[in-house]
Amino acid sequence: ALAAALEGQLQLREVSGIPLQASTVDNWSQIQNFEAKPDDLLICTYPKSGTTWIQEIVDMIEQNGDVEKCQRAIIQHRHPFIEWARPPQPSARNAKDCMVSYYHFQRMNQILPDPGTWEEYFETFISGKVGWGSWFDHVKEWWEIKDRYQILFLFYEDIKRDPKYEIQKVMKFMGKNLDETVLDKIVQETSFEKMKENPMTNRSTVPKSILDQSISPFMRKGTVGDWKDHFTVAQNERFDEIYRQKMKGTSIKFLTEL
Ligand code: A3P
Repeated sequence: ALAAALEGQLQLREVSGIPLQASTVDNWSQIQNFEAKPDDLLICTYPKSGTTWIQEIVDMIEQNGDVEKCQRAIIQHRHPFIEWARPPQPSARNAKDCMVSYYHFQRMNQILPDPGTWEEYFETFISGKVGWGSWFDHVKEWWEIKDRYQILFLFYEDIKRDPKYEIQKVMKFMGKNLDETVLDKIVQETSFEKMKENPMTNRSTVPKSILDQSISPFMRKGTVGDWKDHFTVAQNERFDEIYRQKMKGTSIKFLTEL
């Protein structure tokens, strides 16, 4: 029975054609009825696009660079996910690195469907039959509405290239003004190397039955261009063609290498 229950959890179910975890689907009306207060800040990301990274940056800014305060709880508790409706993200990352990161995440995540082989996962990802739906739709839709609402659209690749400049953008968006030394400290503390060692951000407190970090660490590589070690030449050509079709008509541009 336990296995069956677990199996039920592993299956994704759909809301408006978007595959989601069963617990999210069960709570959908509550999630949909969420109303933001004027000073609420929502971080909206496609999975594996640097959610944890921007969460830590936002908290460091909010706490004026106070490292100890940012150690008060694990990141999932400081910024809960709204879709898990345990009382809550646009940041985008290029599709190729995102697919690679998501593949390794599904290998180690014991409560998401098994990704199968890399070849199989390539097809699943392109078709959008992954948790939280299609990368293409997510990115296009947020890009389209970004100027109509108070939205700060960030790219993983930009934060990687010039963290200080991007962190400053987040700071201004949050209506904060921190001095140079605090900003430098936030840049340091939110580096991949630091966050990989930080038990409040590296998910080391999540049991192995949920996240098996011996299969693949949560803080895996944190780079731009790892897709080159995964995509075959043929896959890359096919991907670029599908990308052109699916992204037709949008002005969004991604960097896939730095
Ligand atoms: P990789 O699997 O490519 O290493 P999310 O938090 O949305 O699940 O995204 C996880 C991805 O962000 C992982 O990518 C992870 O290593 C990367 N990441 C997390 N913290 C980072 C940081 N401080 N700098 C760069 N990348 C980071």
